[in-house]
Amino acid sequence: MPGRVGVKAVIAGDRAGAADPPVPAPVPVLVPPHSFTVTASELPHDTAPDLPTDLATDLATDTRTNTQIDTQIDTDTAATLRPPQRAIRSYVLRAGRMGTGQQRALEELGPRFVLPFQATPLDAGAVFARQAPLVLEIGFGMGQATAEIAQTRPEMDFVGVEVHTPGVGALLKRIGELELANLRIVQHDAVEVLRQMVAPASLAGIHIYFPDPWHKKKHHKRRLIQPEFVALLASRLAPGGYLHCATDWQDYAEQMLAVLGAEPALANTSEAGYAPRPDWRPLTKFENRGLKLGHGVWDLLFVRQPLTQPS
Ligand SMILES: C[S@@+](CC[C@H](N)C(=O)[O-])C[C@H]1O[C@@H](n2cnc3c(N)ncnc32)[C@H](O)[C@@H]1O
Repeated sequence: MPGRVGVKAVIAGDRAGAADPPVPAPVPVLVPPHSFTVTASELPHDTAPDLPTDLATDLATDTRTNTQIDTQIDTDTAATLRPPQRAIRSYVLRAGRMGTGQQRALEELGPRFVLPFQATPLDAGAVFARQAPLVLEIGFGMGQATAEIAQTRPEMDFVGVEVHTPGVGALLKRIGELELANLRIVQHDAVEVLRQMVAPASLAGIHIYFPDPWHKKKHHKRRLIQPEFVALLASRLAPGGYLHCATDWQDYAEQMLAVLGAEPALANTSEAGYAPRPDWRPLTKFENRGLKLGHGVWDLLFVRQPLTQPS
């Protein structure tokens, strides 16, 4: 099935692909509950990147606690900043509980599906071993919606960015269960990921679903959707690429509409202001929580204007 390759099949394929001769014999693979046979030539979409010795790639042998890993992310992030830039972050790291399945997924799948933060642009073609539209999601939480979108859109590649370790473990678990080949994770501050790891005009889409609302007025400065950040988002979109946001907080929705509407590089796809929820966006965990509390939901869908106006 396009875009779906068993994890064990992928690993077997990578090993076979690295060896001589270049066209290896079919590799029988058993990935419960499915049993199938693939050849390495059927797996070009999933060549593993080299594994630098960084946070995520040490997971298999990592004995640090979640809190220690989260502290490391903070330290790494601080090291990439030049004072007095950016003392305000859009998140607070919480010490979350890890289920055994999530822990196992971190150990077994982290080295393959978590890309370490790097201060140079990501080569998505090398990561996914194909040229496909690339979509970045910021703050995927526990990642259920992220995995579902990647599964239903196999023609696209996805990178999810999240700082919260249990969420990373939960999404890795889904990647394994759904045998997703078109999804990778970066566990780092998305602002730094966009600035340093994403080349200008390289993304087909950006998803920001139910970002932390920071509902107290004194905390509004922590909200992700601010003019400066939106300009950064727009700069990373290819012409025609889309920015899709959703929130269940009305005053944040109004802020989003105002800030996105004021960004000259973006155009609203909806004359009505807010957009209908696209069929391919499932309800997210935070959205469901908001709905149970009686909140409304607002989707916003903007596109990147052409870089130069036709004469
Ligand atoms: C309210 S939750 C929403 C999660 C998910 N999108 C959903 O709808 O269920 C917001 C998530 O964004 C993450 N987040 C906030 N700021 C971030 C940043 N700068 N970089 C990466 N993740 C961030 C938080 O850790 C949190 O998991």
